[in-house]
Amino acid sequence: MKQYNVAVIGCGAVSKNHGKALAQNPQTTIRYAVDIDRSQAERFAATYGGTVLTDYRELFSKEDVDVVHIVTPHHTHPQIAIDCMHAGLHVFCEKPLAILPFDAKRMISASQETGRRLGVCFQNRMNDATVRAKAIIDSGEYGAIVSAMVLVAWDRGGDYYGKSPWRGRYESEGGGALINQSIHTLDLLDYLTGGVATVSGMDAKLREDDAYEVEDFAMFYCSLKRGGRAVGFCTNCYPRSKQCTVEIHLERATLTVKQSGLVIEESDGTERRFDCTVATGEKSEWGLSHGLLIDAFYRALEADSPFIADAHTALAAVEMVQAIQHSKGRSIEIKGIEQ
Ligand SMILES: NC(=O)c1ccc[n+]([C@@H]2O[C@H](COP(=O)([O-])OP(=O)(O)OC[C@H]3O[C@@H](n4cnc5c(N)ncnc54)[C@H](O)[C@@H]3O)[C@@H](O)[C@H]2O)c1
Repeated sequence: MKQYNVAVIGCGAVSKNHGKALAQNPQTTIRYAVDIDRSQAERFAATYGGTVLTDYRELFSKEDVDVVHIVTPHHTHPQIAIDCMHAGLHVFCEKPLAILPFDAKRMISASQETGRRLGVCFQNRMNDATVRAKAIIDSGEYGAIVSAMVLVAWDRGGDYYGKSPWRGRYESEGGGALINQSIHTLDLLDYLTGGVATVSGMDAKLREDDAYEVEDFAMFYCSLKRGGRAVGFCTNCYPRSKQCTVEIHLERATLTVKQSGLVIEESDGTERRFDCTVATGEKSEWGLSHGLLIDAFYRALEADSPFIADAHTALAAVEMVQAIQHSKGRSIEIKGIEQ
């Protein structure tokens, strides 16, 4: 079993999910904890190990690092990822790949040019309900996709935005409810249905809250590459955080995919349920699959095989966010990238 030396860049809120997964993975050792805020890196290193650094470029002169996990604010992802790949390091990047599709494509090009892997943290693709739903849809046993619907209703207000200065600003977060919370569910729509072809939509900031300038509500309509239409409703100003829902209507059944499981309603009225373990506690809506996805990344690295969340497959969600933000009701093509 090949061993990988890892640096975690960005030691804030979600870094614990990476630290825990890397500490449990027999293939990985955390060698560096990197954060521009030394106290954050020290806190991370105290729990998960690693030497503290405050500038990721210091990694480039180290012998004992193979992979970086980028867990920093959205606007920093492209530069850090591209620099690291050019320095010979593989990259596992938190979502979104980038704020702009243009930058996401530059990152994918850098991966192709350097031969370094670039994976994206869309952990909900590994949820048991998603895995089952994907297999059922792709098998065709219930026929083609007719339509789909997604619902995201989370609670992110002033308290959340006040905790990190990059959140809530178009310049550094790139949006709100869409690019931060709903992007996982936009990705699941794209992933499960075989691709979104066009999107029209609209977004708004509905809540009176000076802590953020970005959108807290969006709705969209889209056409799917394999046929059928979808709609979506996304907000982070609901007073509580519900599990996200993806509903897929096939010719002979409706699939409802949530963190808690998969429900299949067959057209003859039969209902089949597959219950899954649900995360509990604060931020439970992140789900339980960070570790599963990180383990899969290292298996793919060792086998030099496709990874379930390779960067080119994560571009559509970035394109969808931008399309909804700019569409004002016009239909915009989701182009993706040739591989
Ligand atoms: N996959 C998920 O479910 C999930 C959940 C939450 C957050 N995220 C993503 O994780 C990323 C981080 O989010 P967070 O909530 O942990 O943010 P955070 O603000 O809590 O932490 C970010 C950390 O990055 C550090 N940082 C900023 N610029 C840096 C740089 N250039 N080099 C090194 N460190 C730098 C900050 O000092 C801070 O400690 C974002 O992309 C976010 O969307 C993903």
